[in-house]
Amino acid sequence: MSAASIPLPLARAARFYGSTLGKKAIMALTGFIGFGFVIGHLLGNLQFYLGPEALNAYGAKLRDLGPILGVVRGVLLLAVVAHILAAFQLWRQNRRARPSRYVKWSPTKSSYASRTMLWSGPILFFFILYHLMHLTWGSAHPDYRHLASGSPDVYHNVVAGFSQPLAAGAYILAMVFLGFHLVHGVWSMFQSIGWSHPRYTPLVKSFATGVAALIVIGNISIPVAVLLGFYQR
Ligand code: HEM
Repeated sequence: MSAASIPLPLARAARFYGSTLGKKAIMALTGFIGFGFVIGHLLGNLQFYLGPEALNAYGAKLRDLGPILGVVRGVLLLAVVAHILAAFQLWRQNRRARPSRYVKWSPTKSSYASRTMLWSGPILFFFILYHLMHLTWGSAHPDYRHLASGSPDVYHNVVAGFSQPLAAGAYILAMVFLGFHLVHGVWSMFQSIGWSHPRYTPLVKSFATGVAALIVIGNISIPVAVLLGFYQR
């Protein structure tokens, strides 16, 4: 296809994505999708405290969504891939733009935030892979079980999974990294959409920290509850 035959909206979208602003917009949009998922997932996870029937019924209800679940999973996967790709391209662009790697290094607030993203992002990527192998596919689980209906026994799988202190510890640590990623991610999302007025800065920072803390504490409470034996049998 010659450049002249590319439809105008597509060519415009490609030109926009080619700019730093375009990549930041994609980071903000896909980050927002991930943020929404993490909040929804926390609300689902907290049903752990309602006991085995409630948690397993919730898991079965999600699976019953059939094609809708397929679409949601597809959007989520696309968002994760686009988020990582745009992050990598922005990082490479920044590296190229830096005048010299040997000038005296002086840490600034913004480089602290972007360095945090640089290590917490890849750690979260590997955590999600491990998490899927552990609680979704069962390939990294010591005793992954299904119910008579054929659905996974989510409650048993969570309890047996977190009864291993090493696995529970890995989740707790990953949630701390998730907290760092969310604080800086939510903050940069607001900056990318132009909400960086000094008057809103403290509000945005408190919002980002508050939501991240709720997500981290809510999720960490589950492996901690299992390790302490605080669950329904
Ligand atoms: C302690 C915290 C967490 C617990 C207890 C937990 C629990 C679970 C469980 C039990 C499943 C399988 C559900 C089923 O098969 O019905 C699952 C799936 C999943 N979790 Fe988590 N999770 C936690 C944290 C996270 C975090 C922080 C993320 C992302 C950053 C995440 C991403 C996912 C994804 C992508 C799936 C697959 C969803 C699907 O089937 O489409 N989880 N989680």
